[in-house]
Amino acid sequence: MIELKNVSKTYGGTVKAVDNLSLTIPDGEIFGFLGPNGAGKTTTIKLIAGILNADSGTILVNGRDIEKEALEAKKQIGYVPDTPNMFLRLKGIEYLNFMADMYDVSTEERKERIERLSRHFGMTDVLQDRIQSYSHGMRQKIVLIGVLLHNPPVWILDEPMTGLDPRSSFLLKEMMREHADRGNTVFFSTHVLDVAEKVCDRVAIINKGQILFCGTMEEMQEHFKKNSSLESMFLELTESEE
Ligand SMILES: Nc1ncnc2c1ncn2[C@@H]1O[C@H](COP(=O)(O)OP(=O)(O)OP(=O)(O)O)[C@@H](O)[C@H]1O
Ligand SMILES: [Mg+2]
Repeated sequence: MIELKNVSKTYGGTVKAVDNLSLTIPDGEIFGFLGPNGAGKTTTIKLIAGILNADSGTILVNGRDIEKEALEAKKQIGYVPDTPNMFLRLKGIEYLNFMADMYDVSTEERKERIERLSRHFGMTDVLQDRIQSYSHGMRQKIVLIGVLLHNPPVWILDEPMTGLDPRSSFLLKEMMREHADRGNTVFFSTHVLDVAEKVCDRVAIINKGQILFCGTMEEMQEHFKKNSSLESMFLELTESEE
């Protein structure tokens, strides 16, 4: 479960990237975070993951305050950033072992999980190569595997489908569903309205740091014209703020 209460973040004293935002994402839910470029999605995600500190408000991850109980809160979280360009000099396998060390994953568990996840994502053959030599999608996959190694209950994914091939994207969506169905929380951002429509239990639409809509697809459909696609609803929502 993720709880945001009246969270705000301003960059450099001028740009209000997140503006008094409140959201609750319960266990068992896949929650989609939608919004145009610069809406505040990545900033919100970095606040939840504890990469940035909020100016005001509180964020609880499975009941742990991300600032006051940072270590405990972060142990709950598997975070995949939008730009997976870290540890480029490490080989894939070195990165995975590093992640497993960081999160105290036992030798047997890591062996089984690395084998299974690498096979799933078609990464087995490149584990001995440096991450530097990976494509964007391959980098995303190695970061994803690294995050999944320690089996975190709360997944926070920033544009996870971008750059993934259709097979990997399908696989990830399936894993998200299974993870949520086991009583965990999945929070992800996307521009791809189609993706949100297919996999999310609920969505929020954010623009200029504020939530314009939060609810199920059905509620969204009720809220707007019956047969309109999410895309036109989305445009309607964002335009109404202009
Ligand atoms: N490090 C930063 N310093 C200053 N301003 C920033 C910084 N990061 C983001 N911003 C500003 O904060 C606002 C929100 O940006 P953010 O990256 O959260 O949007 P986003 O919804 O993730 O956009 P995108 O869809 O392009 O990824 C934008 O106005 C952006 O210019
Ligand atoms: Mg972003």
